[in-house]
Amino acid sequence: MDAEWFGRYADPSLTPLELHAIQWLEGFYELEHLLVTRRWARCLRADASPALLFAALVHDAERHFPGGPSSTPSVPFDDPDYLFAHSLRSADVVEEFLRSEARVSDEAFIRQVRALVLRHEIGGGTEADVLQAADSLSFLEALSWLAAEWVRSGRYSKERSVEKLRWSLERIRVPEALVAGLPLYDHAVRELDTTSAVDGAERRRIAGDFRLLLGLTGEPSECGVTP
Ligand SMILES: [Fe+2]
Ligand SMILES: [Fe+2]
Repeated sequence: MDAEWFGRYADPSLTPLELHAIQWLEGFYELEHLLVTRRWARCLRADASPALLFAALVHDAERHFPGGPSSTPSVPFDDPDYLFAHSLRSADVVEEFLRSEARVSDEAFIRQVRALVLRHEIGGGTEADVLQAADSLSFLEALSWLAAEWVRSGRYSKERSVEKLRWSLERIRVPEALVAGLPLYDHAVRELDTTSAVDGAERRRIAGDFRLLLGLTGEPSECGVTP
């Protein structure tokens, strides 16, 4: 099965800093989603800033580290308390990574990344709207298996999972992204009916294996410190 995934997200445009961040998030079940979000951001805006691309790549980072806010099945998907707590914690862990682990000293870059990560769920501003749209498209494309897993495990009913998919589509403000999202939404809803075919543990392993997804046989080289 791994052969069909090897190198699927190989991308020569990834910077040394971005490769460093991917290594930082090794094993995170959302790594595939993060790579696809960055790809959609580039697709929606060919002139996307380095900060937008980096924010796309790390926007959900806090979920990789224990202790974050939890969203229970009874809470709406658009619950501001959860979304704000999640976004703030992600911005904090990303800023700490940039300052400590990556030793980035470009204050303007750090502030721009932080502002975008803070707004990734709600949009607001040209680049934040692109990030929110890219996140939504990526959820529909690369995390539809998670929605199917929710149904299979009983965490959410099929109706609630459809609600999450619909919310991901409806919050998009970028017109061309909405057009791109419609077929992804239809496909993701259909995938909810194939729950017996989903091996959640295996899918999580694949989604977090950056070497597999990027087609790397060793460690990424030249992990630099600047964007
Ligand atoms: Fe998020
Ligand atoms: Fe996301």
